[in-house]
Amino acid sequence: MLSSGGVHILPLVRAVVKAGTERNQRVPIMNLLRTSLLAVAASAFLCVHGARAQSAPLIANISARQTTNLDGRWQAIVDPYDVGFTDYRAKPLTNGFFRNEKPHSPSDLVEYDFDTSGQLLVPGDWNTQRESLLFYEGSVWYKRSFHYAKSPKTRVFVHFGAANYLANAYLNGEELGQHEGGFTPFNFEITDRLRPQGNFLILRVNNRRAKEFVPTVNTDWWNYGGITRPVTLVEVPETFIQDYFLQFAKGSTRQIAGWLQLNGPQVRQKVTIRIPEAGISRTVETDAKGRAGFSFDANLTLWSPENPKLYGVEIAAETDKISDRIGFRSIQARGTDILLNGKPVFLRGISIHEEAPLRSGRAWTEDDARTLLGWAKELGCNFVRLAHYPHNEAMLRMADQMGLMVWGEVPVYWTIQWENPDALRNARNQLQEMISRDHNRAALIIYSVANETPISDARNHFLRELINEAHSTDPTRLVSAALQADGSVVGNRTTITINDPIAADLDILGNNEYIGWYVRRPDEADGIDWVSKYDKPLIMSEFGGDALFGNHGDANTRWTEEYQEDLYRHQIAMLKRIPFLRGTTPWILMDFRSPRRTLPGIQDYFNRKGLVSQSGEKKKAFFVLQDFYRQLSEAPIP
Ligand code: GCU
Repeated sequence: MLSSGGVHILPLVRAVVKAGTERNQRVPIMNLLRTSLLAVAASAFLCVHGARAQSAPLIANISARQTTNLDGRWQAIVDPYDVGFTDYRAKPLTNGFFRNEKPHSPSDLVEYDFDTSGQLLVPGDWNTQRESLLFYEGSVWYKRSFHYAKSPKTRVFVHFGAANYLANAYLNGEELGQHEGGFTPFNFEITDRLRPQGNFLILRVNNRRAKEFVPTVNTDWWNYGGITRPVTLVEVPETFIQDYFLQFAKGSTRQIAGWLQLNGPQVRQKVTIRIPEAGISRTVETDAKGRAGFSFDANLTLWSPENPKLYGVEIAAETDKISDRIGFRSIQARGTDILLNGKPVFLRGISIHEEAPLRSGRAWTEDDARTLLGWAKELGCNFVRLAHYPHNEAMLRMADQMGLMVWGEVPVYWTIQWENPDALRNARNQLQEMISRDHNRAALIIYSVANETPISDARNHFLRELINEAHSTDPTRLVSAALQADGSVVGNRTTITINDPIAADLDILGNNEYIGWYVRRPDEADGIDWVSKYDKPLIMSEFGGDALFGNHGDANTRWTEEYQEDLYRHQIAMLKRIPFLRGTTPWILMDFRSPRRTLPGIQDYFNRKGLVSQSGEKKKAFFVLQDFYRQLSEAPIP
C-alpha cells in the first residue's frame, strides 16, 4: 500500500501530523485524525520492518560453501542523529535510508544520497578509517549493490562475520532483521528477495553504548564500530547441512560423539560422515526435525600444541555435502589438574585483544591472526586467552593449525545489568553464537562467561545461567570466568583467598590480579601467598603493568620497560609458589587502544601493558616471560 506511493505521501502525512500537533490544543478532531494516521503509519512500519525479525539459525563453516564475497568499498552515510531510522519524534521511519531513495523530480525532497556520501572499507572498523570517526559512536549506514545469478532449486543467505553493536539489515528496501552483539556472526535468508540485477544490501550499524547492553557502557577497549568481519552471500541446496558437531565425547580419546542438523523441506535423509585418512565412514539417518546424533569409535592421532593434527572430515547428505578440518583431543579438569588427552598440562598463555597488529583497528584477517599467534608462539605459549569477546573465526582456525589452546569469552564484563532479563537473553545468545561458530575447533578448550564482575546474588544467578548454558550446549569443554580474589594481611605476609561463590560452578578458576601495578609495589608479591577454597585448577588470567616501548629508566619508575620487567620477575616468583596454579595469561600480548588511557606521550589512548608494542617491538618483559615458559616447557608443572 504505502511502499511505492507512500514515499511521497508520507512527507505530506508528516506535515499534516506536524500541523495537527502544533495546533492540537484547539481542534480535537485533529487528534483523532493524528492517532488514526499514526496507527496507519505504525502498521505500515510493521509491514516494512516486521516485528524486528531476528537473524536466521547460524550456518556453520561458511568458507567451505558456495559463496560470493561482498567485501570491499561500501557506500556509507554517517548518521549521528539516526535521521535515517527515526523521525524527529524518534518514531521509526517507514521510508528511512534503507529505501535508498532518489529524487524522482526536481521538487522531490530526499535528504540523503548513498552514492555521493563517501565509502568505508568492509570489513573494517570505521574509527581507524577516518580521523573524524576515531571517537565516533552512533549510526553508520552501509550500502552495497550487486547483481546475482541464482541457480534454480537453491537458497541464498547473506552472512555477516560481525558488526558492532546493533545491526539492522535490509535488502532492496525491505528489512531482513536485526542482530545485537558486536562479536558474533549472523545471517539472513534472502532467497525470495533477490533480483538478478540491481540488488542493494543496506546495513545500519550503531555502536552506541548503553547500560542494558552486553558489554555495558564501561570497557577498557576501544568501541570500534562498523562491519568488522567479512560479508558473504552463501548459496546452498534447498535442504542443506546447516550445522554439525564432531568432537570426542567428554573425557574420551576414542569415542567421537556429535550431531548434525539439516535445514530445508527434505529433512529425513541418510547422511554419511567420513574421515578418509582414518578409514572412517558412518551413515546416520536424520529425524523429522532434520537432526541426527551419532557416536562411534575412532582411533585417531590426538590434537595437541606439540602436534596440532587436523583431519579432513566430509559430511555428505543426499542433497548437500560439506568438508572441514577438525582436530580431536580431550580436555578435562581433575582436582587441581587440567588434563589434555588425559595428561596433566600447564597452560602457558597470554591474553590478546582483537587489535590489529602493526596497523591498529579491529583485527580480522588471517595475517592478523598469524602475526598475533606467531608472537604468542615466540613467547613459548601453548595457550591464549582471547579477551573479552569472541574473536574472529580466522583466529580460532589459526590456533587450530598453529597448536594453541584457546580460552574464548563473552563480553560479560564489569558491571552488567544483572537483574535485566534482556541482558541475560543477550549474553546467552552471544554465548550460543560463539559455541555454534567454534564448537568444532580442537584449539578451543575453555568457555569464559565473565570478567571481573562484582559479587551479588543477581550476578551469581546471571552467571550460573550462562555456566549451565555452556555445559548443557557443549559438555566436552571446560567453563571458567576471570574472578578477583581478596587478600588478608597477617604480619608481613598477605594471603589471598579465592572464595568467590561462583567458583563452585566453574570447572576452572580464573583470577585477575594487578599486584605491583594497581595495588602495591612489584616486590611485595614476594610476601603474598594464595589459597583456594576449591579443589580446582587456577589460571592467573591477568597480571602485568604498563610500559611504553623504548621508555627506559630504573625499575621503580613507572611506564618504563625496566619497571614492567621487574614486575614480571616478581610475579613469576609468586606464581611458582601457588600449588594449584595450572595456567597463566598475563595482560597482555600487545598494546591496544583504549578510551580509558589518556596520559599524553605515554598512553595516548593506548593501554601499554603489552609485551609487544602495537608496531611489533618487544619490550624487556617479553623475554622474562619467554624464559619462564621455556623453563615450564622443560619441566611442565612447577
Ligand atoms: C582489567 C580488565 C582489562 C583491563 C586491565 C587493565 O583487569 O580485565 O580489560 O584492560 O584490567 O586495567 O589494564
